[in-house]
Amino acid sequence: MTQEDLADPLFAADPHPTYAQWRTEGPIRRVRLPRGVDAWLVTGYEDARKALTDPRLSKAPRGPQSYSGVQNAINRHMLATDPPDHTRLRKLVAAAFTTRRIESLRPRIEEITDGLLDEMSAHDRVDLIDAFAFPLPIQVICELLGIPVEDRDSFRAWSSDIVAGPEVSGAERLQSSMGALIAYIKGLLDRRRGHLGDDLLSGLIAVRDSGDRLTEDELTSMVFLLLIAGHETTVNLIGNGTYLLLSDRARWERLHADRSLLPGAIEEFLRLESPVEMSTGRVATDDLELGGQQIHAGDVVLVGLLSANRDPERFEAPDELRFDRPHNPHVGFGHGIHYCLGAPLARLEATIAFDKLLSRFPRLRLAVPPTDLIWRPGLLLRGLTDLPVHP
Ligand code: HEM
Repeated sequence: MTQEDLADPLFAADPHPTYAQWRTEGPIRRVRLPRGVDAWLVTGYEDARKALTDPRLSKAPRGPQSYSGVQNAINRHMLATDPPDHTRLRKLVAAAFTTRRIESLRPRIEEITDGLLDEMSAHDRVDLIDAFAFPLPIQVICELLGIPVEDRDSFRAWSSDIVAGPEVSGAERLQSSMGALIAYIKGLLDRRRGHLGDDLLSGLIAVRDSGDRLTEDELTSMVFLLLIAGHETTVNLIGNGTYLLLSDRARWERLHADRSLLPGAIEEFLRLESPVEMSTGRVATDDLELGGQQIHAGDVVLVGLLSANRDPERFEAPDELRFDRPHNPHVGFGHGIHYCLGAPLARLEATIAFDKLLSRFPRLRLAVPPTDLIWRPGLLLRGLTDLPVHP
């Protein structure tokens, strides 16, 4: 496969054979991204972990090294900064995302899940993505942040253009969706400033307005990141996991019979069809060596999380789904200082979602052959466009 083929829909349909081939050729290779940027792609597990913890691979390139020209209102968040800014920004919201705090959301997440499954039960055939996998995380992140859930259809469209990137959305639509989302967030903050509540948005506004710990651009960027990261990813965990279970019925039956296997199953979904296919880009601030290659200052490095998660050097029978895999150090949530802040939330949402889906619809089945399913274009995320099922 040539470099340009990263944009090929056939690659999105089944990238695993290509990654497997690439890993045999070395843990890191040169690729050309669909938008014409040359980059290094790390495909091997060990080097993926190294890259994700190397402080010389920066998330905050400035000046000529910067390769993303997005507006300051959305690129001043923790995933676009290095320490000490990263440390400060992450600390401001870390307390809201600890396993304990997230656990307190359980009853509400269960209620939302029950409501969505009730609606699903009224139909003979539904798109599980539209009816369940998308609305669940969106509703949860909206309530956590304190954003009116009625607005979700607007920002769902904008955010989906943004994560798909310019090669899928087109430069013009991408710009206009970014503009619309920024204007939406700014309007939201203005309205909330008048009457603060006990939601995360109010908490962040209070921090912003009471001192110098958060600039206005950092505030809008934080809301932008939480909103996008909070709902563009968990949808794929629920969608990809359901696909993995239903495309091999024995898995569904086994999990239905023994729910103690669920936590291990969710880790396997994260490993085998990682919802985030590649890390966001890093830029080398110095010359360095990685996976036997010389990286030069200014080079862009991407980490292939999906590929690393199937590296046979790290995982026994890497392509097999094993509910009881004894040790599963996948990098589906990343690694190092940018390790996913929302991991406890994503795991809780997925646990509740699968537990209730299995109980409520024991005979759930695909309404189309698995080979007819279409994977969303774009390199950052891995997920299905839709998943037709018979409840
Ligand atoms: C299954 C669902 C999810 C997956 C697979 C996932 C995956 C990831 C990955 C791979 C990264 C690191 C990216 C990189 O280093 O380039 C990341 C970072 C992040 N994720 Fe998630 N995520 C998920 C859900 C969530 C949720 C629900 C939230 C909640 C708001 C969230 C918030 C974040 C934030 C804020 C960061 C940046 C952390 C930092 O820079 O320190 N994620 N996520």
